[in-house]
Amino acid sequence: MPDNLTFTIIKPTAFKNNHTGAILKMINEAGFVVKAMKITRLMPGQAGAFYAVHKDKPFYQSLVNYMSSGPIVVAILEKDNAVSDYRKLIGATDPTKADEGTIRKLFATSLEKNAVHGSDSDENANIESDFFFSKLERI
Ligand code: CMP
Repeated sequence: MPDNLTFTIIKPTAFKNNHTGAILKMINEAGFVVKAMKITRLMPGQAGAFYAVHKDKPFYQSLVNYMSSGPIVVAILEKDNAVSDYRKLIGATDPTKADEGTIRKLFATSLEKNAVHGSDSDENANIESDFFFSKLERI
């Protein structure tokens, strides 16, 4: 499994609040190269499938509703140690616990609306990239 790719989503609120440009600037300045990117929107069933690992959690239905509530930006990012370096750049899942200067500290509005998603392993980066991008789009 390559360790130089990760997958991200700019979530509906961050997109709606026009933070996409600022977030992408932080991503580029941290040394990531955008390998694939698009604006899309999930149907509730698709959001449910993407977050299926959380299906028994109390926040699952709300998360599915939220993630299908509006457009998102999805992207594959390249950098050495992409997964761990990206998780450092975005900060803790709960923005109240995120370090100063991280993407979530700057742009999240709640734990659910935490600005961005980032893969938690090389394996999931690959699975999540496949969820949104065809093989041709990934070249
Ligand atoms: P993300 O990195 O996209 O992965 C799963 C998402 O579930 C997470 O960001 C949050 O948006 C959301 N989440 C995780 N924990 C909670 C929680 N305790 N309450 C509400 N939402 C949560």
